[in-house]
Amino acid sequence: MSTPPREIRLNAFAMHTITHQSPGLWRHPRDRSREFKRLPLWLDLARLLERGLFDGIFLADVLGPYDVFGGDARAAIRSGAQLPAHDPMLLVPAMATVTQHLGFGITASLSYEPPYLMARRFSTLDHLTDGRVGWNIVTGYLDSAARALGLDAQRAHDDRYAYAEEYMDAILALWRDSWAPDAVRADAQGYADPDRVQVITHRSPNLRMQALHLCEPSPQRIPVLYQAGSSSAGQAFAARHAECVFVSGPSASVIAPRVAKLRTALRAAGRDPAAVKVSALATAIVADTDAEARALLDDYRAHVDPEGALVLLSGWTGVDFAGIGLDDEVRFIASEAGRSAMENFTRADPSRAWSVREVAAHVGIGGAGPVFAGSAATVADAMEAFVDATGIDGFNLAYAVLPESFEQVVDLLVPELQARGRYKTAYTEGTLREKLLREEVLS
Ligand SMILES: Cc1cc2nc3c(=O)[nH]c(=O)nc-3n(C[C@H](O)[C@H](O)[C@H](O)COP(=O)(O)O)c2cc1C
Repeated sequence: MSTPPREIRLNAFAMHTITHQSPGLWRHPRDRSREFKRLPLWLDLARLLERGLFDGIFLADVLGPYDVFGGDARAAIRSGAQLPAHDPMLLVPAMATVTQHLGFGITASLSYEPPYLMARRFSTLDHLTDGRVGWNIVTGYLDSAARALGLDAQRAHDDRYAYAEEYMDAILALWRDSWAPDAVRADAQGYADPDRVQVITHRSPNLRMQALHLCEPSPQRIPVLYQAGSSSAGQAFAARHAECVFVSGPSASVIAPRVAKLRTALRAAGRDPAAVKVSALATAIVADTDAEARALLDDYRAHVDPEGALVLLSGWTGVDFAGIGLDDEVRFIASEAGRSAMENFTRADPSRAWSVREVAAHVGIGGAGPVFAGSAATVADAMEAFVDATGIDGFNLAYAVLPESFEQVVDLLVPELQARGRYKTAYTEGTLREKLLREEVLS
């Protein structure tokens, strides 16, 4: 008996900002990013993604400006590179109101907010969305955020992950152990049973907490846990905690070894390596014909702001690209920001040398991930080949033009993937975790 084809899962990658991953594209005449600060854009997007049976929308977040490029925030302010950066969580209840199934992967940095407050906000959202939230656990990579929040600089790279372990102990204890499943009685004896709600005491080198969780258990009790770092420390953290992992890199040859390493780390941690869903960042440009898609891509490329792209790259890598010639080759420099972001264009694929100009052009459409452009059949072929070469479970789709890029996917690509038996034809009931863990048997 032949094995049925594996489902390809789709998430949308977005941010409560003017410029997420495609700098300059806010100037495109059809782009609606300038409406980012009002709800109609987000409600339309949520409805569209649910029509396309996306697993979820994944909302990125940063807590400071990208001020590595040129040593200050001027270029970030000018280009709108993830600035303004509005609060992602506040979008979620509104988007949940106009959808029933769409999940919400919300990025929140654990570096500057105690576990007690973080636990309350996620539990509240899990209640309000009927169990549709996930937490993208990040530690941040911008010193500007640390300075804004009263520190001289962020913790060193691996120390951030060590702190994250302490944090997870505390927050998971609040979610798991503070309220017994049957603590809420709402009967003649009272609302909840004092014997079934307990104070959690946590003491670790950098955290002290003595608290009962302020929320009663929510539908998922713990939000679905996402993680997105690929360094050794990042993967070790993912192997212990993540249920979904986001990876990003320009090609299958960069992504495949990362996915293999992650699955090995999961096995070593005693977990089922296939149980963790891995999505790779990518952008799909889809039209009726390959030629039309190529023309669209050329049009989008004409709107890219290369300086904005280098602002983003400098923030992700911690390296100031303003000081490097546009035709110089990008070389690996270690920093305390993100490690894998720098490896993407250097040692992760030694067969491919990138100039600064090439990286800026690449990052300009959809960030570090690949761009698949073509007819639905061409893009579906490319995606299937990428999935087969890397062992990922799906894609975290960035956009060039908002929401046009997602309209192309929903209206053209999704039907093609469905016809190939690689995409679901309906949502199943249940919480986000239940939907993600269910393996659909596609015929
Ligand atoms: C697809 C993707 C999305 C990410 N989104 C965010 C984000 O919104 N906010 C953030 O602070 N970090 C974000 N990160 C950064 C990671 O959480 C991590 O800090 C970074 O990849 C560096 O970790 P590493 O050195 O372990 O690779 C993202 C990373 C990836 C690959």
